Amino acid sequence: MNLIQTKLSKLLSTAAAALLASSIANAGILPKAALTPADNLTTAEKVELGKQLFFDPRLSFDGTISCNSCHNIMSSGTDNRATSSGISGRRGVRSAPTIWNAAFLTALSWDGRAATLEEQAKEPPLDPLQMGMPSEAAVVERLNAIPAYVAQFKTAFGDKDAVSYDNMAKAIAAFERTLITPNSPHDRFLAGEKTAMSEQALRGKKVFEQSGCNTCHSGTNFAGPSLPIGQGFYQRFPSYSSEYNKKYDLSSDKGRYEVTKVKKDMNRWRVPSLRNVALTAPYFHNGSASTLDEAVRVMAKTQLNLKLSEQRVSDIVAFLESLNGELPKINMPRLPGTINNSLVSNMK
Ligand code: HEC
Ligand code: HEC
Repeated sequence: MNLIQTKLSKLLSTAAAALLASSIANAGILPKAALTPADNLTTAEKVELGKQLFFDPRLSFDGTISCNSCHNIMSSGTDNRATSSGISGRRGVRSAPTIWNAAFLTALSWDGRAATLEEQAKEPPLDPLQMGMPSEAAVVERLNAIPAYVAQFKTAFGDKDAVSYDNMAKAIAAFERTLITPNSPHDRFLAGEKTAMSEQALRGKKVFEQSGCNTCHSGTNFAGPSLPIGQGFYQRFPSYSSEYNKKYDLSSDKGRYEVTKVKKDMNRWRVPSLRNVALTAPYFHNGSASTLDEAVRVMAKTQLNLKLSEQRVSDIVAFLESLNGELPKINMPRLPGTINNSLVSNMK
């Protein structure tokens, strides 16, 4: 460990510090497939159904917003807005994280409130600022009114109670587990392809490590040590006060504290993955930093109390760009219709 890392590890909790030693510089190659939970084994039928549901705006109250509206998998897996726009243009206070590689995270959302993709997928349809459906039953009623979905749920989950809110979430989660972006230049470099990264990116990798960015952004996802499902790696943000605090309103949202109501979690946030981060502007939980350069400057100052030269900032950005993986080609699914019946206009 270098000096900054040693200094930093004192700031981290003891448990985190213990894990630190084993995880630093332990950046790994992204696996080609994600583990699946025993109670939701992946099948082709589930994945196909989940894909359709992911793209289907009928999961939202007025039929205008699908998961893909805010997590666009034709590109960055996000909406590239500071904060997302739900039904009737309603805005929340947080920025949509990319859905790419979410399958590898052990705690979901900026504050880590959901443990699994299955659990997470049940939130958006009922969130009044996102898809705004009044209840689980109302969602199930809609699904039941689409005959081809009923058939597909039965194929995927068996005949008994096939169309349910839980199974909707399971199908979506099974699809999300396929959203993986392998072979980033950095992954190829680790696999032995010495020319995969540019010289500037290699320089940036060194600056990233020597500055201590990887005390938090370590491991395969650059999101901290690998932890069991349901556990997140949380850190205070901002850790040092600076002009950025006010400029970007970094402290009004209390982060993890909003979930636990425990004082020590005040302004603590899950350390986010840096894979594909060059595609997902704007940055931070409130989308306040509009460019990657600026996000790097803010991080250096608020998390490490460092002012980086512009050369170092652009070297780190080149390194972060080398974490962009190959986006799999996605074909838009064909969504099943409801003949002579506009489901949405019939809804109260
Ligand atoms: C209106 C925009 C919007 C819609 C629609 C939406 N999301 Fe999100 N999603 C967000 C935002 C914002 C967050 C971050 C929430 C937070 O941290 O408080 C998020 C977080 C997530 C995460 C966690 C990612 C991570 O890195 O932790 C997953 C997974 C996810 N959404 C999947 C879905 C699925 C599946 C659907 C459809 C059922 C969906 N989202 C619909 C905006 C949206
Ligand atoms: C003490 C832990 C810690 C250190 C050190 C750290 N980060 Fe972060 N990083 C975080 C946390 C926590 C967040 C989430 C901030 C938020 O909630 O908005 C974050 C967010 C980011 C983001 C924005 C991600 C997004 O999707 O919006 C980037 C880029 C980033 N860090 C890069 C770096 C770089 C480069 C360094 C070194 C100069 C660094 N970080 C050092 C903890 C850390």
